[in-house]
Amino acid sequence: MVEFALPKNSRVTPGKKHPAPETATSTKTFEVYRYDPNSGENPRLDSYEVDLGSCGPMVLDALLKIKNEVDSTLTLRRSCREGICGSCAMNIDGTNTLACLKPIGEVSGKVRVYPLPHMPVVKDLVPDLSQVYRQYASIEPWMKAAPPAEADRERRQSPEDRAKLDGPSDCILCACCSTACPSYWWNGDRYLGPAVLLQAYRWIADSRDEASDERLSDLDDTFKLYRCHTIMNCTKTCPKGLNPAQAIGEIKKLIASRE
Ligand code: SF4
Ligand code: SF4
Ligand code: FES
Repeated sequence: MVEFALPKNSRVTPGKKHPAPETATSTKTFEVYRYDPNSGENPRLDSYEVDLGSCGPMVLDALLKIKNEVDSTLTLRRSCREGICGSCAMNIDGTNTLACLKPIGEVSGKVRVYPLPHMPVVKDLVPDLSQVYRQYASIEPWMKAAPPAEADRERRQSPEDRAKLDGPSDCILCACCSTACPSYWWNGDRYLGPAVLLQAYRWIADSRDEASDERLSDLDDTFKLYRCHTIMNCTKTCPKGLNPAQAIGEIKKLIASRE
């Protein structure tokens, strides 16, 4: 298991304890990071005993049960509950992952829940990912190609070329990988990080896109690309089983083959 550093604002003090209802027969303790930057108070770790007998199987189920039944001020993001939207990414038991895909039963002992590490915190489990989204926009993540000869026809792609997008096109931009990357922690203002570089590769590898050269020239930069030191935290933590480190390696190879 990869243990990651705490989020920014990490002077955490012990917080409130919320015991389980007396009727509970099987309980699990969740220690949840709570922080409101507007309060002027330090972050704290609140403790909630959850009745597993009336809770769904995933960590997200427990967090929503806490929010619905114990403390409605607990703030988190979620949407699909199916591992598709990427919005419930957080650090659970020391690993960045999706709360909706993380079974409570996989965690022995207390379940420690923090926001994604090394990002400013908006509130509680919600990190400010503005930097990641800005960097995503900077790689121009759309197809660049001249209009097809026949405007009403699809752009054709062979099965072999389509297969090259398997993996990169499954990325849900949850940012688990970028916020697990030490190089991104220290140079995130200039290094694009694994999530965005995987997306950059997705367009470079697309046989229908006609701007590969321009995209590679833009990435050929000491900071944007070459801060990756193949530490592999990104690939280890990706909850979708993707390999951003390999995609970064492919970009480096394509740049080297042009020289
Ligand atoms: S590569 Fe994986 S961890 Fe990174 S943003 Fe995409 S889905 Fe999330
Ligand atoms: S392989 Fe590169 S992108 Fe992935 S964690 Fe390591 S330095 Fe970061
Ligand atoms: S709620 Fe959408 S990925 Fe977890």
